[in-house]
Amino acid sequence: MAIQDQALAEKVALVTGASRGIGRAIAVALGRRGARVFVNYQSREDAAHETCALVIAAGGQASPLQFDVGDAAAVEAGVKRAADEAGRLDILVNNAAVSIDQLLLRFKQEDWQKTLDVNLTGVFAACKAAARHLLKARAGGRILNLTSVVGEMGSAGQVAYTTAKAGVIGLTKTLARELAPRGVTVNAVSPGFVDTDMTAAAISDEARAKLLAQIPLARIGRPEEIANVIAFLAGPEAAYVTGQVIRVNGGLLM
Ligand SMILES: NC(=O)c1ccc[n+]([C@@H]2O[C@H](COP(=O)([O-])OP(=O)(O)OC[C@H]3O[C@@H](n4cnc5c(N)ncnc54)[C@H](OP(=O)(O)O)[C@@H]3O)[C@@H](O)[C@H]2O)c1
Repeated sequence: MAIQDQALAEKVALVTGASRGIGRAIAVALGRRGARVFVNYQSREDAAHETCALVIAAGGQASPLQFDVGDAAAVEAGVKRAADEAGRLDILVNNAAVSIDQLLLRFKQEDWQKTLDVNLTGVFAACKAAARHLLKARAGGRILNLTSVVGEMGSAGQVAYTTAKAGVIGLTKTLARELAPRGVTVNAVSPGFVDTDMTAAAISDEARAKLLAQIPLARIGRPEEIANVIAFLAGPEAAYVTGQVIRVNGGLLM
């Protein structure tokens, strides 16, 4: 069941990493509420175009927007391009992330840096660039950041990913305090395990079976189940929600 109304009809959203997975589902969910969505991607132009077609089919408007979230200057230019092209920006969803997994002693410095650049510094850069437009427009706004259950509880073999995702929570709470006086809410959504390319690559069949045994709802989540919560937080009914970490994890962490 998805929210289907025109509550975001006049709104412009930018979703990073929207060519695939959870980001694609978020773009479609915002489109279903009538938003104009900029579909950011890094390299999968074909997939970004597919997302745009799905957003339009859902009732929204969509344009692909390439930039590397790990490059702060490119992020700033990308956010500006979206805001200039649409004449406004109301919603930023920081969804793009990479997962490079290895135990501490084998973890390469460059993999640590890459993970932090995309998953944390990129979020900071996008928030800063979007805040500039949101504050200038004086029309409020929404910033939504994807963290992860493992950023809250740790995960062996994921030192950089979990550190970045924990950092996203701190960033979310601080920006919620800084931007609240200007009517901009900032929240994080913390998924459990969701069926996407990211988990398909990282979780073996054996690990998947062990994981399922720990999830009270006894199944992996679907991208749409995360997107529905984002679509709610992006809408007018969530105006009094800020600085929160909303868990969508089948009960894995309570
Ligand atoms: N899947 C899960 O179980 C899970 C659980 C908790 C949290 N999350 C979080 O949810 C979010 C989405 O995860 P997912 O599983 O949907 O990931 P995914 O399937 O691996 O998709 C990643 C998306 O991010 C984009 N991307 C990667 N690096 C980028 C960069 N440097 N610049 C711009 N775009 C970039 C990719 O673009 P291209 O198509 O161009 O490569 C793709 O659209 C992430 O923040 C992740 O940490 C996921």
